[in-house]
Parts: sequence; structure tokens; C-alpha cells
Amino acid sequence: MRHVELAVIGGTGLYKFPDLEQVERHAVDTPYGSPSDSIVVGQVGAHRVAFLARHGESHTIPPHRVNYRANVWALHHLGARRVVGVNAVGGIRADMGPRVLAVPDQVIDYTHDRLTSFCDVAGAQVRHIDFSEPYTDALRRDLLAAARRAGVAVVDGGCYGATQGPRLETRAEIARLRRDGCDLVGMTGMPEAALARELGLDYACLALVANWAAGCGDEGEISLPEIYANLEAVTAQVPKVIGALLAG
Ligand code: HPA
Repeated sequence: MRHVELAVIGGTGLYKFPDLEQVERHAVDTPYGSPSDSIVVGQVGAHRVAFLARHGESHTIPPHRVNYRANVWALHHLGARRVVGVNAVGGIRADMGPRVLAVPDQVIDYTHDRLTSFCDVAGAQVRHIDFSEPYTDALRRDLLAAARRAGVAVVDGGCYGATQGPRLETRAEIARLRRDGCDLVGMTGMPEAALARELGLDYACLALVANWAAGCGDEGEISLPEIYANLEAVTAQVPKVIGALLAG
């Protein structure tokens, strides 16, 4: 198979990559079970791109049930070496309001009961990885430069707090995340980033702010229709950034 230059894992609101042409679908069977859906491989101009909907194309898999290992393994198996994870998030920091795009540079993992490592298999050799910098800096820089070229405003850096979901957080939980230094909160950033590192993939996160995290905005309750409207608006920027990233 021809070289896949970039893989994109789409989160809530991004179930298809709009500019893909000459599309093939790959149903990859992995040693860790099935990925969230078949992987769509196609061309964006001269560039070969793989796309996977993290929750499945009809959004049937909740964050804590995503088979992150199968997803990451399958993309690696198809030849991808650079992966951009697109994640819907809530904003905590004052400059991370609804419809903002951000490329975080740190993670705190609050998730539990997820399969977080490829060595979590009987008899597998245990391997530890350095994860001081959870995202690949070169890919982060390339994403930021691509956004600049595409005329899309993106916040550089921030700490992503990964929560279990599928419910949103309480105000007290978000206050704790803020004290911990989290700027954004989402349900799917981990263990995806760590698994990518285990396989030696370049990985960066493009976070799309859907709402103010609990207690961070003016309104008491978080409105789900508003989340979806914000996500639709901000997701429209993603193909521009990815297109510019590919054009290099
Ligand atoms: N919390 C966690 N995940 C999210 C949120 C949130 O407020 N918004 C979108 N994904």
C-alpha cells in the first residue's frame, strides 16, 4: 500500500474528512480487537491521508468504551507515522472559550479503567516510555504554522485534563482541574496520546472548544444544543488546518 502521510482521528462533530478523494475503506483486524470503524484512506490533493472516526461514524461508542489500542495500532499498521487527534473539549482558561482551537502541550490523565498500554496483554514484554512531553513538538509546531498559513487562529499550548465521561464534570471537579493546572478538559485525549508514543508515532492534539467547562461560563447549566452548534462552527476550520499541514 502507498505511504500514508498523515492520519486524522476525528472526535465528536468530525465523523468524515470532507476533502478526501479516491477513497478506500480498510476494516483492520488488530490483536487488540476492532477499531471504532473502518479506516478511510484517500487523497487530499497529492497527499495520502487516513481518517478514523473515534466514536464510530454514527457516534455509537462513548469515550470510555473507545478501543484506543485498536485505533492506534490500526493506523500504524496502515503505515501512518504522524497522527493528529481532533478532540472536542471544554474550556477552563479564560482564553479557551467556545469555538477556540488549541494545540495543547501537556496532559493530566484522570481517566480510569481504560486499557492504557500495548503491554497490558499476558506475556507481553513490559516497556516504559518517556512521556514528559506527551505530544510531538515538531508536529505541534507544524500544526501551529499550518493554522497560521490557513488564517485560522489557534492557541499554542495548554494542559489537557482527560476525564472519564461520558457525563460532563461537576463544578468542583473543574475547580480541582483548574488548581491542578488544566486549561482544557476532554474525555478522549488519553490513553490515545500515550499509545501513539508506545508505537513511536508522532502525535499532536487539535482541541476544539465546544463550551465553557462546568462553572467557567456565566450560565449555570451547560447547554447541549449550544455545544453542538459551537462544535459545528469550529469543526469547519479543521480541514483548512489539515490541508495547510499537508501542503507544508
Ligand atoms: N468536559 C469534558 N469533555 C468535553 C467537554 C467538557 O466540558 N466539552 C466537550 N467535551
